[in-house]
Amino acid sequence: MIPRFLPNTLARAFSRLSPKMDLPIHSLSHKNRLAATYPWTYSPLIISAPMRVISGPDLAVSVSLSGGIGFIGPGLTPESTALDLAAAKSLLPSTNNNHPFLPIGVGFQLWNGSLPHASSALATHRPFAAWLFAPSTEGGQSEIDTWTTTLRAASPQTQIWLQVGTVSAALAAARSAAPPDVLVIQGCEAGGHGQANPHGSGAGFITLLPEIADALQTANTNIPLFAAGGISDGRGAVAALGVGAAGVVMGTRFLASKQARIRKGYQDEVVRASEGATSTVRTQLYNHLRGTFGWPEEYSPRTVVNRSWREEREGVPFEELKRKHDELVAQGDGDGAWGPEGRTATYAGAGVGLVREVRDAGDIVREVREQTCAIVKMLGQLADSS
Ligand SMILES: Cc1cc2nc3c(=O)[nH]c(=O)nc-3n(C[C@H](O)[C@H](O)[C@H](O)COP(=O)(O)O)c2cc1C
Repeated sequence: MIPRFLPNTLARAFSRLSPKMDLPIHSLSHKNRLAATYPWTYSPLIISAPMRVISGPDLAVSVSLSGGIGFIGPGLTPESTALDLAAAKSLLPSTNNNHPFLPIGVGFQLWNGSLPHASSALATHRPFAAWLFAPSTEGGQSEIDTWTTTLRAASPQTQIWLQVGTVSAALAAARSAAPPDVLVIQGCEAGGHGQANPHGSGAGFITLLPEIADALQTANTNIPLFAAGGISDGRGAVAALGVGAAGVVMGTRFLASKQARIRKGYQDEVVRASEGATSTVRTQLYNHLRGTFGWPEEYSPRTVVNRSWREEREGVPFEELKRKHDELVAQGDGDGAWGPEGRTATYAGAGVGLVREVRDAGDIVREVREQTCAIVKMLGQLADSS
């Protein structure tokens, strides 16, 4: 309703904006379809990211049993996925035994993944969703299409999710011969691997997601967009819903969950670290210290910094950093491996400063959902008073 005291010109401008707003905010429009597709979930949808090795069966099942969608991450070997899915099945209540699908998802990295192992794991265990990420530089969208088509043939009801970090990647996927069912829009705050930017900067989901929503609207496609990167509590989740996300993905927050498959020193450091803007950086250094080479140049990982990074900047040669790193790793999960004076990889996002305690994963899901609903209600009052 237009307030009566508004001058005519203002009132006309107001009526152009209201009651119908033309910004694409799809947070609500996919609600019923998503609820029907993932029938055990509650809205707003909270998702635990498929973090390599760390997101195991315990974490994925705990998140899904709390009304979210839990993902198992890529494993150490291509065979790990089927083993993890089998383990997840055994953790689910026996009431699920007669259901043909597992109420969890599973993640794959394309550039070094094994499509035959992935499709066989899907055909055998039938998770509700498969999350694809990081095709090779040469393969690009056509590699994603091959994975999508092959996985859909192996398990037709499994929904295909694709994580992207640019407008062009989102558009290419939406226009492709095999579009995904969900696009996860990963902002630069995200922990672990994400879009590398040659200039050292990047875009958070708060700008990336609405720009992608606008581009997809122009391209006439209507794929639900989920937000990832820096979301650690209800405040971040509301920000994501506010820019049009239909669901909220968290990785770093679940590093500090009881069900994460993570070393204690790593988890302690995630809880300790603060000021993600300065205590985390994107660098290939820790990949290389761990002996991981070959990531496509489009990606780099965000990590909490420690001595390895500081000394690299001071000019210490890589060989020396590697020797010191390997010595620490050889000592096992000792106190010295992680922390400001440690040397090992501590992949985590810029939201690390908001993660202050290790909690049960189910409690995290419930709490973030409740916080989100409470904030949305509060903001409703704000709108009423304007
Ligand atoms: C330790 C760690 C490992 C990750 N491994 C993967 C992975 O194997 N595949 C993937 O698609 N994303 C991976 N991610 C990125 C997540 O999918 C997601 O984008 C990210 O966790 C969201 O940002 P946040 O960590 O700030 O919540 C990883 C993230 C972290 C923190």
